[in-house]
Amino acid sequence: MSKSLTIALSKGRIFKETLPLLAHAGIVPRDDPETSRKLILDTNIDDVKLVIIRASDVPTYVEYGAADIGVAGKDVLLEHGGEGLYEPLDLNIARCRLMVAGPVGQPEPAGRMKIATKFVNSTRRYYAGLGKQVEIIKLYGSMELAPLVGLADRIVDLVDTGNTLRANGLEPLEHIVDVSSRLVVNKASMKMKHVRVKAFIAQIAEAVAQRQPR
Ligand code: ATP
Ligand code: PRP
Repeated sequence: MSKSLTIALSKGRIFKETLPLLAHAGIVPRDDPETSRKLILDTNIDDVKLVIIRASDVPTYVEYGAADIGVAGKDVLLEHGGEGLYEPLDLNIARCRLMVAGPVGQPEPAGRMKIATKFVNSTRRYYAGLGKQVEIIKLYGSMELAPLVGLADRIVDLVDTGNTLRANGLEPLEHIVDVSSRLVVNKASMKMKHVRVKAFIAQIAEAVAQRQPR
């Protein structure tokens, strides 16, 4: 196994918020994924590459060793199941909350509620913990629409400012879990590239500690 490092990131907020942390570790990408169509980005360090993938695919790439390291939201990790990966560091970025939401002022319907979400596993666990029987409807996005068109009574989605809920006549109802992005590491890479991976984690941890709290 070569000692090169491949780091898996998703475009958008995770990429943007991870960039300053990478810079602290001396890593600067040579391309911007928002403008480049490349999926493998070179960096200023020859044997450090970034792979740009969907947020929900990051744990899969890291678990299978296609990337040594990745950055993934806790929401994604809870859905994926964390056993196949190490999760050594909370980066404290992309912070939000996984919540139940529903139409403003609408009381809980009697009987088995329909819950639309892309977070099927977390939702199942949450309601099982409450001892409530619900029907979970899997969606891939725009969950806020579901109660407006009668597809579901409630949604389980990420909430930050609450603007998206408000814009759609919904309100947050129940807090399931706080979410932030985590550094994840492939188990074999942690052993075989121990010195390099440990040094990287330490540099990123230092950058996280130095950041101003939000
Ligand atoms: P995919 O492309 O796999 O569907 P996505 O569209 O959810 O993923 P992003 O919107 O970039 O991808 O979100 C990436 C991560 O950022 C999420 O997994 C979550 O942890 C966090 N996140 C999502 N929405 C917010 C938000 N409004 N504020 C802060 N963090 C958020
Ligand atoms: C996320 C999430 C919510 C919204 C919540 O969507 O799925 O819709 O943010 O944030 P708020 O409480 O600050 O409004 P995102 O912004 O990532 O858009 P997308 O996933 O639909 O691209």
